[in-house]
Amino acid sequence: MNIYKPNIIAFKEKEECDKYTSSILIKEINKLKKIKLGLATGSTPREIYENLVSAYKNGAVSFKGVITFNLDEYIGLKENDYENSYRFFMNSYLFEKVDFNINNTFFPIEWNQKLDLDKNDYFEYDELINSNGGIDIQILGVGENGHIAFNEPGSKLSAKTSKTNLSDSTIEVNSRFFKAKADVPTQAVTMGLDTILKAKRILLVAYGKNKLNALKALTSASGFNENIPCTALLLHNNVTIITDQAIELLFK
Ligand code: GLP
Repeated sequence: MNIYKPNIIAFKEKEECDKYTSSILIKEINKLKKIKLGLATGSTPREIYENLVSAYKNGAVSFKGVITFNLDEYIGLKENDYENSYRFFMNSYLFEKVDFNINNTFFPIEWNQKLDLDKNDYFEYDELINSNGGIDIQILGVGENGHIAFNEPGSKLSAKTSKTNLSDSTIEVNSRFFKAKADVPTQAVTMGLDTILKAKRILLVAYGKNKLNALKALTSASGFNENIPCTALLLHNNVTIITDQAIELLFK
């Protein structure tokens, strides 16, 4: 198995990172038009999506031909908690603010529901992605415990899109979005590590000191360590880490 060093693009300010990442996306969307994007949710990509909305409003980009595959979605959100779903997040921060064809925006659970397979434990998402020609650019965040999407410590490299149990640390960290910790679902469906590694290009965006341990573990590992799932990215030959932790990551 070949190991590759990720490129690191580090800026002092988070805003510069957001600008850099959104400019790559705008450039590639304008080049490919029918580009397939893998998208992440969470606090990290929010301003990147806001930049895309501004670019659309300025006439610098159109999303008409873009197809998107979101990384993950909670299972078992409370009925009145739709606002914590990743579908709601994407619709409100991006999809409904620009000219997306909403039918070209995919989530793993919804796709199984559409195929009438919602009682299945097997998710047909990898097939859907492959039949569309694969993901051109995957945007990723990283969890404080090193998870990518919801691939928690202990995840296998061979994992396809599947149901997963959230770790206690992820439930704790994500509880900031919920009224109470008890409201955080304990399960989710997530693209697997194998699914993510099939993307042609990966942009991992990580801001703030609380992501530094995960970034350091990734940049200093000599190969995949299943306790730190983001180290799977060392097996991909086109990964760029975009971070505001320049000094800590590069010079300490
Ligand atoms: C969440 C999501 C990930 C996300 C990560 C970091 O639990 N499942 O896809 O990248 O944790 O989230 P944030 O950007 O809010 O720090």
